[in-house]
Amino acid sequence: MKPIRIADAGRHVGEEVELRGWLYNRRSKGRIQFLILRDGTGLMQAVVAGDEVPESVFAIADRLTQESSVIVRGSVRADRRAPGGHELAVTDLEPVQVVEEEYPIALKEHGVDFLMDHRHLWIRTPRQAAVLRVRAEVIRAIREWLDDNGFALVDTPILTPAAAEGTTTLFTVDYFGEPAYLAQSGQLYNEAAIMALGRVYCFGPTFRAEKSKTRRHLTEFWMVEPEMAYCDQEENQRVQEELVAAVVRRVLERRRPDLEFLGRDVSKLEGIRPPFPRLPYDEALAWLEEQGLALPWGEDFGAPHETALSTRFEQPVFVTRYPARCKAFYMQPDPDRPEVVLCADLLAPEGYGEIIGGSQRIDDASLLEQRIREHGLPPEVFRWYVDLRRYGSVPHSGFGLGVERTVAWICGLEHIREAIPFPRLLHRMYP
Ligand code: 4AD
Ligand code: MG
Repeated sequence: MKPIRIADAGRHVGEEVELRGWLYNRRSKGRIQFLILRDGTGLMQAVVAGDEVPESVFAIADRLTQESSVIVRGSVRADRRAPGGHELAVTDLEPVQVVEEEYPIALKEHGVDFLMDHRHLWIRTPRQAAVLRVRAEVIRAIREWLDDNGFALVDTPILTPAAAEGTTTLFTVDYFGEPAYLAQSGQLYNEAAIMALGRVYCFGPTFRAEKSKTRRHLTEFWMVEPEMAYCDQEENQRVQEELVAAVVRRVLERRRPDLEFLGRDVSKLEGIRPPFPRLPYDEALAWLEEQGLALPWGEDFGAPHETALSTRFEQPVFVTRYPARCKAFYMQPDPDRPEVVLCADLLAPEGYGEIIGGSQRIDDASLLEQRIREHGLPPEVFRWYVDLRRYGSVPHSGFGLGVERTVAWICGLEHIREAIPFPRLLHRMYP
């Protein structure tokens, strides 16, 4: 008998099939037992009718406890009342392991700390599994779009000799007696790679020793960072909006049932369409002041400012031309107004805030050297980076999109910790 997966049950109506999964929940009504099975692709009700199966099979059904692993055989029938629209009329049950102990995550409400301590089991629950499937689809969609649009994948190092995004969030590791740092970004290496390949992206884990305890910050997160030679900040933003819209479209196409299961208002996602609005930093500041969220010119937005700005539009919004002093050392100054840089953060709507940070990069060697000095960075370890401005320098730009923040927005999650299988947070390393 051919094993099938629950998501494909609709193609096997009337057939005898085998399901390999776990018991999620159960109920019984007289001589009928309803076993709710899960197999990683969905939930399906398996009906064990006392009058139609051998007594031994009925007895096994009786013994199965929550999360017992079991192979179930039977025929698929359509039933509009069943979750997923199909159910299995059971003919045979083969227990793989009957769980003898009480399963820690009983089917009731639990506190977040308890669930986080049991993250290794929590991910089995249908809600968490749906989020992880959406995450996988987001990553697949990002890669597909970039691969189809002329970007070459370049893997950048994780162990690095210097900071890429400010020295305050570095994780230091001992590298044979010398300090090394976990990568905060692959961007600087991508800037070398575009001079070889034109358009590239890296996709990997990045690390920030963030002391902030917010619903938007992880200490280990995944970022995709496209970088483009012969590209100014305007074109950079056009690429970003096309990519984000394509990812949202793909997830709607392929994972709509998961989004609906999560209770996501998909109409909000269906409306995502470029071009996205552009809002210069100065105008954002003036608008925030009207909202009672005044901020001195030159400061970066805090969480409340970001939240307010990202509820103002239905689309993601580009906040552009930030003051140089609150951004990274490598950003290209605006030629007409050198106190601001050619950059944009893309804020997702519905209060989600920044999902992308991007900019045009300094392409002049002496200006870059000056910035490295001003930021107190060690010039020796940036020699190679300045070299890129000596041998065929070109205008170039790129951006970084945070996978977990994007997943949190698309799924409508309250906290980023559910957007990654095993979150690393200020006070959490276990499991
Ligand atoms: O704005 P950031 O720091 O930009 C960079 O790292 C650039 N080097 C990117 C580039 O131009 N190639 O980070 C980019 C994105 C943010 O917009 C956010 O989505 C995510 O990475 N991010 C985080 N996500 C979760 N937890 C954190 N602590 C994050 N810090 C940044
Ligand atoms: Mg940023």
